[in-house]
Order: sequence, then structure tokens, then C-alpha cells
Amino acid sequence: MQLKNKTVIITGASSGIGAAAALLFAAEGANVVVGARREALLDQLVAQIIQRNGRAVSVAGDIKEEAYAVELVQLAKSEFGGLDAAFNNAGIMGDTSPIPDMQAKNWHDVIAVNLTSAFFAAKHQIPAMKERGGGSILFTSSFVGHTNGGLSGMGAYAASKSGLIGLAQSLSSEHGADGIRANTLLPGGTKTAMAGDDPAVHEYIAELHPLKRMAAPEEIAQAALFLLSDQSAFVTGSAMIADGGISIKLA
Ligand SMILES: NC(=O)c1ccc[n+]([C@@H]2O[C@H](COP(=O)([O-])OP(=O)(O)OC[C@H]3O[C@@H](n4cnc5c(N)ncnc54)[C@H](OP(=O)(O)O)[C@@H]3O)[C@@H](O)[C@H]2O)c1
Repeated sequence: MQLKNKTVIITGASSGIGAAAALLFAAEGANVVVGARREALLDQLVAQIIQRNGRAVSVAGDIKEEAYAVELVQLAKSEFGGLDAAFNNAGIMGDTSPIPDMQAKNWHDVIAVNLTSAFFAAKHQIPAMKERGGGSILFTSSFVGHTNGGLSGMGAYAASKSGLIGLAQSLSSEHGADGIRANTLLPGGTKTAMAGDDPAVHEYIAELHPLKRMAAPEEIAQAALFLLSDQSAFVTGSAMIADGGISIKLA
């Protein structure tokens, strides 16, 4: 019960890492507030958590919109009385063209979904956490936010994921005295919709990792649990690698 009675926002909860995290955090005693655009999937997730005697609510929306960040915090307050932690996890890969071929629209979309959303999230989560006397914020970056390792087509994605590391470090400096911690999690290749469902691609990605496999979303959720819970009470400003060693191999 590492998150007993803590209220946690989780974005990107309609699938993959976010859905696994919502199930895990609820099982660890958290009140979870889940978000993404696909409402039907959020409804299914909430029903599953409640069936397991957990506590969950959802609101669907687009994290590109500042109003959605406000809505998630308001829901945490109205349903559960406040906000203790946030797993700002939603993200997209976007087009993987080399930069000269990349459309500006793709650049703007990837930055808006992956990075500007994190600014909106923190902007509205921090005042709510201050009201509680502290909290923990986590952003899902990626191994490519730390070391691109020669992979091509990662220009917009890598820029957005590196930006999250800088944002978390700044938040750590600015709000440590408020008892608020801010960290990033850098997963390696993980078997979710983002990685597609082509076995040949999975095999190629798995081979890049010293562990010779991809992660299950539940394994990344465990790392997020550590960073959001009091188990990591002295960890802030950290970019925690949970990547099966891929960044060592690529560095
Ligand atoms: N899978 C990997 O190999 C890997 C590796 C490193 C890092 N990551 C990162 O892990 C995070 C989770 O991805 P995943 O692997 O779990 O993939 P996923 O299953 O595709 O999940 C992405 C989630 O983000 C949500 N999302 C995307 N755009 C959104 C928007 N505009 N507004 C609201 N929600 C939005 C999606 O929900 P809706 O479509 O319902 O909105 C979905 O729930 C991402 O930040 C990703 O960059 C993944």
C-alpha cells in the first residue's frame, strides 16, 4: 500500500504504460484520476478498478489544452479532496522523418502533446500540491531524451523528451522547499500501441537492449510507483532510466 489514500492524476491512461500504472496505483491504495482522449477506454479502466475495490474517476480530454490540465486537478479536488501526485505520462511519437523532411505541423504537435502539456500540468498541479503541503510530479520521458544513440527520425520526439528532463529539474529547484519533488522516467522499448504490433519490429527493438527484450508496461509502472511514492522521498530532479540498458549500449 505504497500510495495509501494518496490522490494521483495519471494521463495517457487509456492504454499502455498509463493504464498499467492506474491499475497498479489503485491496487497500492491510491485514489486515481485518469485522463486521455478515448473516453470509452477510460470508462472501462475505471470500472475495472472499482470492481477490484479501488477508487477511480476519469475525465476525457486533450492534454494540448490548458483547460484540460485544470479539469483534471479540479476533479481530484472535488472527488477526493486534493492532489498528492501526478504521473504526466501521455505522449506521441509523431512522424519520424529526418528534420529537413519534417513538416512544421508535426514538430508543433509533438512539442505540444509531449512538452507543452507538461508545462500546463505542472502549472496547475503545483498550487494544488502546495495546499497539501507537498507532492510528487513525474513526467514520462524516454531513453532518447537522454541519449539518442544514433537513432534516426527522433528529432521532434527527442527534443520534447529532453525538454521534460530540464523542466523537471527546474521544478525541483523551484518547489523543493514546498515539499514537492519532480522527476522524469526514461523507459526503454515497451510493448504498447506506440511500439506497434509487428513481431519483426519488436524483435529488432528487443535486440537493441542488453536485456534482449522489450519491457512490459507493468514494469515501467513499477518504476513510476517508486518515483511517486514515499519510497523515493529524497529523489528529486532525477532522470531515472528504466530502459533494459539500451542507453548504455547506444551511448
Ligand atoms: N512504448 C515505448 O517504447 C516507450 C518508450 C519510452 C517512452 N515512452 C513514453 O511512454 C508514454 C506512454 O506511452 P505508451 O508506450 O504507453 O503508448 P500508448 O499506449 O500509445 O499510450 C499513449 C497514451 O497517451 C495518450 N495521449 C496521446 N495523445 C494525447 C492527447 N493529445 N491528449 C490526451 N492524451 C493523449 C493516449 O490516449 P488517447 O489516444 O486516448 O488520447 C494514450 O493513453 C509516452 O509519453 C511515450 O512517449 C514509450
